[in-house]
Amino acid sequence: MNKKIAVIGAGNVGATTAMYLAEANLADIVMVDIIEGMPQGKALDLSQAGPVRAYNSMVYGTNDYKDIKGADIVIMTAGLPRKPGMSREDLLNMNADIIKTAATNIKKHAPKSFVIVVSNPLDIMTYHMQKVTGFPSNRVFGQAGVLDSTRFCTFVAMELGVAMTDVQSMVLGGHGDTMVPLPRYTTVAGIPISELIPADRIKEISERTRNGGGEIVKLLKTGSAYYAPAAATVGMCKAVFNDEKRLLPASAYLTGEYGINDIYIGVPVVLGANGVEKIIELKLNKSELTALQNSAKTYKEHLQVLGY
Ligand code: NAI
Ligand code: 2OP
Repeated sequence: MNKKIAVIGAGNVGATTAMYLAEANLADIVMVDIIEGMPQGKALDLSQAGPVRAYNSMVYGTNDYKDIKGADIVIMTAGLPRKPGMSREDLLNMNADIIKTAATNIKKHAPKSFVIVVSNPLDIMTYHMQKVTGFPSNRVFGQAGVLDSTRFCTFVAMELGVAMTDVQSMVLGGHGDTMVPLPRYTTVAGIPISELIPADRIKEISERTRNGGGEIVKLLKTGSAYYAPAAATVGMCKAVFNDEKRLLPASAYLTGEYGINDIYIGVPVVLGANGVEKIIELKLNKSELTALQNSAKTYKEHLQVLGY
């Protein structure tokens, strides 16, 4: 294949992302990790699944960033996962250095790429990635809202005993405790959930969504979620790769939309061949808008820690 997708970090999220990408048969895949032999071993294993799973994507593993040369899309998953009791924000300083190394290498070896950031704390790391690469903001965006929304959809489907694919939702804000699930924009086959689920249960489901990552961390005890995060990331990657014009929540750079400036945060966007092609400004009610703006305020403070 002559198209190439690079996945930085071959841990749980990175390797699962590579697996879903290979299954989608889009491009060849190169996984980069600092652990010697590990990305090479996983890549060989994934390539060997191709004949059985009927894909032709070759998967390569490397410890050398120069092998991402010419990648069309780079997916950034390297970092340290959350441990029980650790907030996403605790990871801030530890992961910022990893982002800096990756960003410097992406700029050097894949200067025309689109970058999808997954590493936490997501909105801050996406900002950091854009600043260090210097890429236009339509080419650098973060995956969180698709994951948070799919969690919301799953919980609604479980509540009602309906098909998960019939539920659509929108979760905005930062990927953290300040995320903003929007029950008003959540429907089952076009029917607002307020017609189907009592208000107090909707509140509980929204809260469970907000704690969706933490719930899995607690159960796993070591590491955090990776199947749904990888699936969400590959969904975004396909939207860009195939110019699908998907309307999805993503961490995008705001310049005044929703009254928020110079920050990456989760908002609805149109994703296509030019990356973030449009930011959609939804009509939010007062409490939704306040929640989104408060979420942004928290991240402004965290960015200051990194010297922005
Ligand atoms: P993991 O620990 O399984 O994998 C991380 C990998 O990054 C490790 O293999 C490590 O060796 C590698 N790494 C560390 N420094 C590196 C560097 N400088 N260059 C290349 N590779 C490097 O962790 P997991 O579960 O894969 O999570 C990865 C990140 O994604 C974490 O920050 C986690 O919090 C985040 N995450 C974000 C989600 C989202 O929705 N945005 C969802 C799930 C996880
Ligand atoms: C999650 O939401 C840890 O951010 C990750 O599962």
